[in-house]
Amino acid sequence: MDRPEIILAPGPTPIPPEVLLAQGSPLVYHRGPGFGSIMREVTERLKELYRTESADVLLMTSSGTGALESAIQNCFSPGEEVLVPVAGFFAERWVSLARAYKLTVHTVDFEWGQKIDPAQVAESLATHPGTKAVLLTQSETSTGVIQPVQALAEVANSAGVLVIADVVSSLGAVPFEFDRWGIDVALGGSQKALSASPGIAFAAISARAWEASKAATNPRFYFDWATYGKFAALKDPENPWTPAISVMQGLQAALRLYFQDGVDAAMARHQRLSSAVKEGAKALGLDLFGEGLEDNWTVTAIRAPEVADADVICDTIRRDFGCVLAPGQGPLKGKVFRIGHFGYFSELDIIRGLAALEMTLESLGHPVKRGAGVAAAETVFMESA
Ligand SMILES: Cc1ncc(COP(=O)(O)O)c(C=O)c1O
Repeated sequence: MDRPEIILAPGPTPIPPEVLLAQGSPLVYHRGPGFGSIMREVTERLKELYRTESADVLLMTSSGTGALESAIQNCFSPGEEVLVPVAGFFAERWVSLARAYKLTVHTVDFEWGQKIDPAQVAESLATHPGTKAVLLTQSETSTGVIQPVQALAEVANSAGVLVIADVVSSLGAVPFEFDRWGIDVALGGSQKALSASPGIAFAAISARAWEASKAATNPRFYFDWATYGKFAALKDPENPWTPAISVMQGLQAALRLYFQDGVDAAMARHQRLSSAVKEGAKALGLDLFGEGLEDNWTVTAIRAPEVADADVICDTIRRDFGCVLAPGQGPLKGKVFRIGHFGYFSELDIIRGLAALEMTLESLGHPVKRGAGVAAAETVFMESA
């Protein structure tokens, strides 16, 4: 019998029925008061999530990477210098994107899985005084590490450079404060902590970043922020181009659901689920990967045991139980697998994922005490109830 897959990956995350219904309902025509009121509500709620009163938030039809590309197009001119601290796959994406637009990229390199050291970034900024911006990734989804964006922004602000942050897999999942931390651009997506479908990306833009965008000469058209800004300022806000209307309707429902409990409740849930996954994995004799585990509430990277390659674990659990885990990326391929635990997940989603993992590991020859992972997760839940 066909059943939906059980997604325990760091995005797209499972979609609540309210969101599915909203995005399956008749299209609201994208020019006029109906869509305008959806855009207004979604923008207002996102501003609350970004913790900003000063920034403009633009909504674009694209996955998260499109929003990252929009930042490179709008903030820079060819040859300008940026600094990227690299400790994983998504920081490397910043490097590739910036190079694709002929920026001069300085990197500060860390081992994958390390937390970025703000002091080293400060040193590098001092050695490269022509730097215009730092490009950060808050939740480095490839390693599970939540990077210290607040401290990194402080260092960048002291050096007088723009702070551009990829918050695709962290906005709404872990604390983030656009205004207080001195962020200039922060880019998110619909399919992660908010549990809407993929297809809408957002950019929060500070006054400083708007200024930069006016002077910047990189080519841009589809993602031209100035065009988006004009349409967003209409009496009934619009997108310049035909947007992913259904996804926007779903995103409105997703945000309403998210704010039923509110930001703090969502963060507390992510922390609890993260801790249950980590304790569950340890109880199965597995080693966790990455620094700062107690802060890493979005995704847990787990080292594969000796008996099985991580990709084989992902393939087997999917084949036998319909459960989707994320494989390792880049140098971590085959070495780690990842469990996502942000977005519309409950305690029981984690319990069934751990149960499937136990049985999969046993079938692959890794010795497990049946129920040990589940019991450890239950202990976390009962003791933090
Ligand atoms: C931190 C981070 N940045 C960027 C992206 C890319 O987003 P998308 O696949 O929506 O383009 C992802 C997706 O997993 C991500 O986790």
